[in-house]
Amino acid sequence: MKVLIIGSGGREHCLAWKLASASNVSKIYAIPGNPGIAKIGQCINIGISGSDFKSISDFVFEENIDFTIVGPEAPLVDGIVDFFQSKGQKIFGPDKSAARLEGSKVFTKELCVKYGIPTAGSIKFNRNDYSEAVSYIKNLNDGDFPVVIKVDGLAAGKGVIIPQTKESALDEITNCFINNTFGSAADSLIIEEFIEGFEVSLLNLCDGRNIVPMALAQDYKKIFDGDRGKNTGGMGSYSPVPFVDEKLFNKMLSEIIYPSYEAIIKEGINYRGVLYGGIIVSKGQPYLLEYNCRFGDPETQAILPNLNSDLLDLMLRCSDGKLGSSKCSWRNTKCVCVVLASQGYPETSSKNDLIEGLDCPGDAETEKGGNSAIVFHAGTISRNSKIYTNGGRVLGVVASAESFKQARKVVYEAISNIRFEGMQFRRDIAKRVEEEIS
Ligand code: GLY
Repeated sequence: MKVLIIGSGGREHCLAWKLASASNVSKIYAIPGNPGIAKIGQCINIGISGSDFKSISDFVFEENIDFTIVGPEAPLVDGIVDFFQSKGQKIFGPDKSAARLEGSKVFTKELCVKYGIPTAGSIKFNRNDYSEAVSYIKNLNDGDFPVVIKVDGLAAGKGVIIPQTKESALDEITNCFINNTFGSAADSLIIEEFIEGFEVSLLNLCDGRNIVPMALAQDYKKIFDGDRGKNTGGMGSYSPVPFVDEKLFNKMLSEIIYPSYEAIIKEGINYRGVLYGGIIVSKGQPYLLEYNCRFGDPETQAILPNLNSDLLDLMLRCSDGKLGSSKCSWRNTKCVCVVLASQGYPETSSKNDLIEGLDCPGDAETEKGGNSAIVFHAGTISRNSKIYTNGGRVLGVVASAESFKQARKVVYEAISNIRFEGMQFRRDIAKRVEEEIS
């Protein structure tokens, strides 16, 4: 079977790597892909935005590609699945209506309220409610801060803001509604209470009727050790999450994931693909923070190396509505992913810095399973057989081992061989798990 992966990040490299081991995959293509994916598949340099769906679909016809997998959220929210389905082409991911779960924070919040899904209390404002939003913030007490402001639409991972004070909350509202910082993504926004707790990512495979949970992962969003500094797209991850016992996991499923999926079906939405729940646990109670309509990045890089099941088979079943009573089977291994970011990230990112040391045990090509690290490419570019930085999150170094302690050891040893100007990474990914669990 010929498979096309849409996207260019570490998540897409990891998907390609996992699918390359599936017995039924004869060739992997990626649009646009990255130099890591290029080692296992053919990367095609055409765009992936709304207006390019026809070119992608034409390419799929020309190359007789059997199955297309969409990595990032933007093409899903823009309707790539609807476009492919209208051409009779098989694709993995939710259609435009279903992708509203990520594409509209207001839509998801209203669904949660309607169906009693535990989530933070919130209030919605439209752009022409600017003065009401200002009055609402002004009337809050100092003890009500921080609050969480979420712009309704997609905002490249920057649309969730947590102002600590009344003044900064007022500034943020002005940025959204008056200064137009987020464009039309902030035509509406919600202001919600801040819930203190620990966050987990719960990804689920869906076929329109059935939903199958995957192993939990935890993502590190802050740039610096100790969860300090600015928010990023994710500086590392690990899976599974031993702090969540079976009882709490079942509570997440029975109070959030399953009732949400029933609600989605009741609303007439045919959700196929991955439904990714961002969940916070506070005093033993899980609350839904957000839904995403795709695999998480970098959670995927920590989840898939532990997966025993045939990923292609599961994805095809999602797309065909045939998950039935399928389950994911997991190795008894622990996986850690550490992201190497470029200088200036997350505010800016430097490009064209030479990356050295990728031929150490740790390049994905030399991965032998068990005790070697895998390097997933993200913001990289290849020129004259050399690899350079080309974005904020550059590489994800991953190891799966019998303990978190061993996985961390392998990952950080591999990182010690990799160099580029201004390279930054966190040294505490899965450290607490190693100390408390291993
Ligand atoms: N790791 C966060 C995300 O994928 O949205």
